Amino acid sequence: MQLNIIPKPNKAEFYGGEVWIKDLPVRYETNDIHPEEYYCLEIKKDEIVITSKGEKGKYYAHLSLSQLEGMGKVPLMKITDMPAFPYRGFMIDSARHMQTVDEIKRYIEAAAKYKMNIFHWHLCDDQGWRIESEKHPLLNQKGSWRECHGFGSNNMQKYGGYYTKEEIRDIVAFCKERFIDVIPEFDLPGHTTAIIATYPELSCRGDQVPVETVGGIFKNILCAGNDKVFDFCFDIIDELCELFPYPFMHIGGDEAPKARWCNCVRCQQRIKDEGLKNEEELQGWFANKIIAYLKDKGYTALAWNESLNSGIIDGDTVICDWMDRTKRCVPYANGGGKIIIEDFYHYYLDYVYGMTPLKKTYSYNPYLDGLTEEGKKNVLGVETPIWTEYIEDFDRMSYMCFPRLIAVAERGWTEGENADYASFKVRVKNQKDFLASLGITLCDESEWDPSAVIRIKETVGRLLKSITPASIMATVFPNVDEK
Ligand code: ACM
Ligand code: ZN
Repeated sequence: MQLNIIPKPNKAEFYGGEVWIKDLPVRYETNDIHPEEYYCLEIKKDEIVITSKGEKGKYYAHLSLSQLEGMGKVPLMKITDMPAFPYRGFMIDSARHMQTVDEIKRYIEAAAKYKMNIFHWHLCDDQGWRIESEKHPLLNQKGSWRECHGFGSNNMQKYGGYYTKEEIRDIVAFCKERFIDVIPEFDLPGHTTAIIATYPELSCRGDQVPVETVGGIFKNILCAGNDKVFDFCFDIIDELCELFPYPFMHIGGDEAPKARWCNCVRCQQRIKDEGLKNEEELQGWFANKIIAYLKDKGYTALAWNESLNSGIIDGDTVICDWMDRTKRCVPYANGGGKIIIEDFYHYYLDYVYGMTPLKKTYSYNPYLDGLTEEGKKNVLGVETPIWTEYIEDFDRMSYMCFPRLIAVAERGWTEGENADYASFKVRVKNQKDFLASLGITLCDESEWDPSAVIRIKETVGRLLKSITPASIMATVFPNVDEK
């Protein structure tokens, strides 16, 4: 029997018969033996019984119940349910284009409905710094602003802004009510042009550069040989810890070309002093310094998969696998390291449906080939990012993310053997009104799984859009420093 619930519950037993549930009383029972996110929802003739360990399970039971209410008469039954993965995340890039607080809340509200439990907030990048800083207010005066809208837009007006501490606290509180933890990302040592535009002395060359107005990978990164860089990073981390009272913090680590470090006297001295082999190890050393500082404050670091390339990253770091070209994530997990799956080809929602059809997203198996039974236990879960270089407004963002975000939410909760794409498509169509009530447009079914011709056309179009001279140079010659 098809229940109108997303994510699909992992177990439902039917007793025979149906009942109108709207006016049935709800009784709660506590059961200590199950994990926090477990719930049992029993629909009886004369009452509804919800069993859980505590408030979190109760919340998830009510989310399922609220979706059943839309069904009219409901079968008498018992749902016993808990998630496949403890980490079910969504990431919003607010650096390239910002969203209003209200828009972010509406997005969170939708993700919460599908039992997602982590909001990873990408708050700084080459094109803008979005966190109010009391210790370094110049970041907000300079680094939060770029010369024009950028990314190929004809709008030549200045673009920028940042979230005040009050706004950030408001969003964190909103998430807490929905049992969502918020993980801020402080991307280091690359993707830091907005910082370097504010404080050129934190880069290797010290050149004054503008906040970037195009997408890509940039060679100006923080200088690993300068102790002032760490003072700055620790100041920011102190401010972040006050705002985000959770056990995790993301420290980036992606796409950091080593050209500047190769030619920097201070970076080369650091390599010598610390007995490191090369610039890749220097990135590992850099990350470990930040990780140690976070550990002292009770935080575990998350980092993008490039952080494994050094071979020396602290093994407690949770690795976010977005594009593991050097194939280090599987051995990391098999060796006891925790990983999160956010595969570029399946879970990056800023890529058009022609490139990443809904079925491709839904059908992806987060258990990577080569994982041992032990390694599988180290897959904490899944996350789906929306990067916003080319996502300027909330309408476009919601069209790109819904229903693909819901597909990731379902695969994060529903065990692989219970996943069912045909049933998912039917259930997701029923979400249209709920999403519309949040101002979110559900992409039309006709666009979910495009034909081969449309797929080729859209894929080529999208890739051409994001290829820039700077990113070609940084990708093909990451260690070559132009004079
Ligand atoms: C990434 O997409 N650079 C994590
Ligand atoms: Zn340097």
